[in-house]
Amino acid sequence: MIHLDLTHVIEKIPFDSYKKSVKTINEMIDKKEGKGNDFLGWTTWPKDYDKEEVERIIKASNFIQQNYDTLVVCGIGGSYLGARAAIEALTGLFPKRKIEIIYLGQTLSPNYISQVLAYLENKNFAVNVISKSGTTTETSIAFRLLKELLIKKHGKDYFKAIFATTDKERGALKQEALKEGYETFIIPDDIGGRYSVITAVGLLPIAVAGCDIKVLLNGAKKAMEDFDNDDLTNNICYQYACTRNYFYTHGKHVEMYVTYEPHHTQIGEWLKQLYGESEGKEKKGLLPDSVTFSTDLHSLGQFIQDGTPLLFETIVRVQTPNEDIIVKEDTENLDGLNYLKGKALSYINEKAFLGTLKAHEEDGKVPNIVITMDKMDEFNLGYLFYFFMRACAMSAYLMDINPFNQPGVEIYKHNMFVLLGKPGVK
Ligand code: PA5
Repeated sequence: MIHLDLTHVIEKIPFDSYKKSVKTINEMIDKKEGKGNDFLGWTTWPKDYDKEEVERIIKASNFIQQNYDTLVVCGIGGSYLGARAAIEALTGLFPKRKIEIIYLGQTLSPNYISQVLAYLENKNFAVNVISKSGTTTETSIAFRLLKELLIKKHGKDYFKAIFATTDKERGALKQEALKEGYETFIIPDDIGGRYSVITAVGLLPIAVAGCDIKVLLNGAKKAMEDFDNDDLTNNICYQYACTRNYFYTHGKHVEMYVTYEPHHTQIGEWLKQLYGESEGKEKKGLLPDSVTFSTDLHSLGQFIQDGTPLLFETIVRVQTPNEDIIVKEDTENLDGLNYLKGKALSYINEKAFLGTLKAHEEDGKVPNIVITMDKMDEFNLGYLFYFFMRACAMSAYLMDINPFNQPGVEIYKHNMFVLLGKPGVK
C-alpha cells in the first residue's frame, strides 16, 4: 500500500475547487467515455484479465528459465519500460537469479546493437519481442538481427526461442508469428503501450525474472478498488493528480520524480514516458523528469535547490528496505564515522531524505509531494503502477488532453519512414 504526504507542498491545495471536475472525469473513466475512450481497458484489467493467458505466461516463463541462460526483451517505450522498471525494482541490479535479462529494440545505435549481439554469441538466449503495432523500426531491426543469430544457433528450430507479444490479429509481427510458429501473447486492443505493464507486455519478462505476477495483478486490483471513486478527501490517487495540476496551473512546468534507490531509477523512466506521452500535447503538460538521490544530489541537486523555480518534486520512497547494513565500529576511526556505529544504512538514507526535504522545501521553496510505499514487493508495485496510471488519466483529462494517443511520436516515425524510403509512405 502507499501513503501520500502533502505536508511539504508549501501551498494549500484547494481540493474543493477540483471536486466537480474529478467527479465528472471519474464517471467518464468508469463509463469508458471521453477522449481516447477506446484505450481505457487497463482501468478494469486487474479484474478482467485473461486468466488462461496468465497461466500460459507462467508456463512460458518456467520454460524460458529452465532452457535458457538469457532473455532478450526486445521492445521500445511502453513495450519494455514497465517490465524493466519492475524487474529492477523487485530483483535489484545484481540479482541472484540464474537467468540474465537484457534489453534491445529500444535503440538504433550500431555500437550498442553490435555489442549486444557479440555478447549473445556465446549465450543460450530466448527473445521476447514486444510490439503492438509490429512496425516500430527500432524493435523490428533488432528483432531481425536476433533472429539471424538464433537461426545460426538452432537452424529451423529457432522459432522455439521466440515469444512474441503483439496485437491479437493486426501487424507484421502477428503475421510473422503465425507463419513461423512463435508462441504469442496478446496486447489487448483497448490498452496502449504505456498502460500495458500489467498485461502480457510486462508480465512475461517479470515472470521470467522470478516474480509473482498474480500477486502483482492483485496489487493493481486493490488499487483499482481503492481509487475508483471521486471522494477527494480520501482518494490519494486523485489528490495527487489535483496537486500536480494545481502546480501546473500555478507556474510550475516540471515534475521531478525522485528516488533514493538506484534500482528504482527505471521507475522514473517509466513515469517519464507515462506522463510525458500522455500529457505532452497541444502545447500543454508538465515536463516529467527524474533523479536518483543521493547520486544526483551531486549533480541536479544544486539546480533543484537554487535554480530557476520551475519545478516541484514527487518523491517515491519505500518505508522498509528489503536488505540493510549496520555501520560497525572501527577502532582507529580514521574516517571519523564512529558516531554512526550501530546505525543502519536505511536510517542514514532516511536522514539524507529528511535533510534534503528540509533544504528543498524551506530554503529552496520547492514543493515536495512524498509518496511512501510500505515495502517493495509485487503487491505494492502492482498497486503503485495502477496508482500512477489512474492519476495520469485524471491529470491529462484535467488538462482536457487525450491521455492515450501519441501524435508527436507518430510524426517522427512517419518522417523516418519517408527518409528511409519505406514503400507506400509519403
Ligand atoms: O506508449 C506507447 O503507446 C508507446 O510508447 C509504444 O509502446 C511504443 O511506441 C512502442 O510501440 P509498439 O509497441 O507498437 O512497437
